Amino acid sequence: MPISIEEVTYQYQLNTPFERTALRDVNVMIPSGALVAFLGHTGSGKSTLVQHMNGLLRPTKGRVVVDDIEVRAITKRRDKKQSLLPLRRRVGLVFQYPEHQLFEETVERDVMFGPRNFGASEDEAKERAHVALRLVGLDEALWSRSPFDLSGGQMRRVAIAGVLASRPDVLVVMNRRQGSIRSDVARCWRYSND
Ligand SMILES: Nc1ncnc2c1ncn2[C@@H]1O[C@H](COP(=O)(O)OP(=O)(O)OP(=O)(O)O)[C@@H](O)[C@H]1O
Ligand SMILES: [Mg+2]
Repeated sequence: MPISIEEVTYQYQLNTPFERTALRDVNVMIPSGALVAFLGHTGSGKSTLVQHMNGLLRPTKGRVVVDDIEVRAITKRRDKKQSLLPLRRRVGLVFQYPEHQLFEETVERDVMFGPRNFGASEDEAKERAHVALRLVGLDEALWSRSPFDLSGGQMRRVAIAGVLASRPDVLVVMNRRQGSIRSDVARCWRYSND
């Protein structure tokens, strides 16, 4: 699934005294199937850029095209209504501290949240959650526990399973100096797409 970032400018806190330009006229073309790394010093805009790939952020100027989905800058009120849910399903984002996004009562329910949100039935979501939890190597005995009773590493696995369970076409992993986690995620993702 190709991703094209075209002339994208992004300003945080637009029209306030705290306005800050994080991206300026950025062009990136990622062909389908490519493995790409964004490297740059802290504050250079990597996280801002990748959040455009699944519609978490919308450009201030320019446009983003992911496969057949186009995300434009918000220029008119009706633009705000564009549903980006299909894009969020297809591009999974693993944040730098993914465990901060856990919230459900049990591990199983937390991993089911993504597929449920994207329209899978209860049974289908459960099935996907189990596949994903096995992929990340989380012991079945922990599935009915609260995610907050787990170790840091286990919590991170649950969070990654949550992203994999939605079966994204593209996976974006945001983290620094954690090569082992990155390659673990990549390996799981390859299996989950076989
Ligand atoms: N919520 C925000 N409000 C205002 N400015 C922000 C916000 N988030 C990021 N910025 C600014 O935007 C710029 C780009 O930040 P970004 O987080 O994209 O950098 P990064 O390359 O991911 O950095 P790091 O390597 O530290 O993760 C920085 O100057 C940062 O201060
Ligand atoms: Mg970052």
